[in-house]
Amino acid sequence: MWSSRLAFILAASGSAVGLGNIWRFPYLASDNGGGAFVLIYLGCIALVGLPIMAAEILMGRHGRMSPVNTLRKLTSEGGHSKGWVVIGWIGMAAAVMILSFYSVVGGWTLHYAWLYVEQLFGGAPITDPDATFTAMLGSPGTLVFWHTVFMLLTVGVVAMGVEKGLERAVKFLMPLLFLILLGLFAYGLSTGKVGQAFEFLFTPDFSKVHGSTWLAALGQAFFSLSLGMCGIMTYGAYLPRDISIPRVAATVALTDTSVALLAGLAIFPVVFAFGIDPAGGGPGLIFTSLPLAFNDMAFGIPYAIAFFVLLAVAAWTSSISLLEPPTAFIVEKGRFSRKSAALLAAAVIWALGLVTALGFNVWASVRIFGRDLQGAVEFIASDLMLPVGGLLIAVFAAWVLRKDISRGELPDLGNGGYTAWKVLCGILAPGMVLLILYMKLAG
Ligand code: PHE
Repeated sequence: MWSSRLAFILAASGSAVGLGNIWRFPYLASDNGGGAFVLIYLGCIALVGLPIMAAEILMGRHGRMSPVNTLRKLTSEGGHSKGWVVIGWIGMAAAVMILSFYSVVGGWTLHYAWLYVEQLFGGAPITDPDATFTAMLGSPGTLVFWHTVFMLLTVGVVAMGVEKGLERAVKFLMPLLFLILLGLFAYGLSTGKVGQAFEFLFTPDFSKVHGSTWLAALGQAFFSLSLGMCGIMTYGAYLPRDISIPRVAATVALTDTSVALLAGLAIFPVVFAFGIDPAGGGPGLIFTSLPLAFNDMAFGIPYAIAFFVLLAVAAWTSSISLLEPPTAFIVEKGRFSRKSAALLAAAVIWALGLVTALGFNVWASVRIFGRDLQGAVEFIASDLMLPVGGLLIAVFAAWVLRKDISRGELPDLGNGGYTAWKVLCGILAPGMVLLILYMKLAG
């Protein structure tokens, strides 16, 4: 059991805040034209993400087991079809795919932290960030090495079961990351480009919106909140009964969203100040823009080290929550100890990660859905599987789960609040997911 409300909030925020906020959100905002994307993203957080987060937590708290077993329990208790257990399977598959590329990108942050440590001892400065980034992608050895290091760090925590210890560290390191972002924002103020960044991020231009913009924003809402893959459900299993689910869900969503917006406001002034084209920054955006600021500012090298190390830590706490579901699944299926299950899952995911790593160089010409391999894995898992998993969770919680169970888990919502949750979860959220998937398919 979590000892307190705060412990749960820290763990869930540790999962939510990560590369999704600082690496993925800015690059998607850049690729999708800024303001309109951000507005749709915020709408998806409030109208789709929040109700589904409450649904995941309440299902987890009622079931009190791993996702697949929780679903088994909930369906057999209510006499519902066993088919709903598929939610747990989709979640596990999504977690495996996401972690496979997440670990490669986590490796990028470690590589950059290392490059700056070398600089501290006289290594060559990053004068041409584009060239440095391209060189990294072009080197399978570098990518695979840091992907391996990142995966070892992740599996180390899960196999030894020391998540609790890490959480304590997170309590201090996450606020520090927030401060580092604030410092970058302050640097942005000195460039005089913050106004332009605000305009880019918060002035919606709906002429730039296509079906793919909607889907990217929806997928990012799920990705950033760690929703749709039963991870938050797992955490809900340890939530004490007397804690208000809507309140913790709102706190986690608010924390996560503030970090993403702050990251955007830290990065785009730099983008404008150095004359980078804000459109189409791609997955390299923070790596090709921020080094210019680090070169320019006082104490830029230690600042860069702090930034990349803390970002790696944030990614680490998220990756742990991604390795949990497959590990729990293997433990339940077979005669594996937790340690061997974690190692087995990590080995499979590491191997899958090679697809991402080599997709940047050896297999650079391969295209799936018009994307490179990393882009394709990222798209299938984050933009398709998470929303579909979330859709099924929402429909299950609102329409299938016995009312006395969901009502009993949400005692602090008045009757009006409960009805509002049901409408959001049962009608609006699934409706939006279906509509957005349809818009994408229809082009
Ligand atoms: N939410 C994490 C991030 O923003 C990534 C993640 C996705 C973690 C899905 C768990 C599940 O970095």
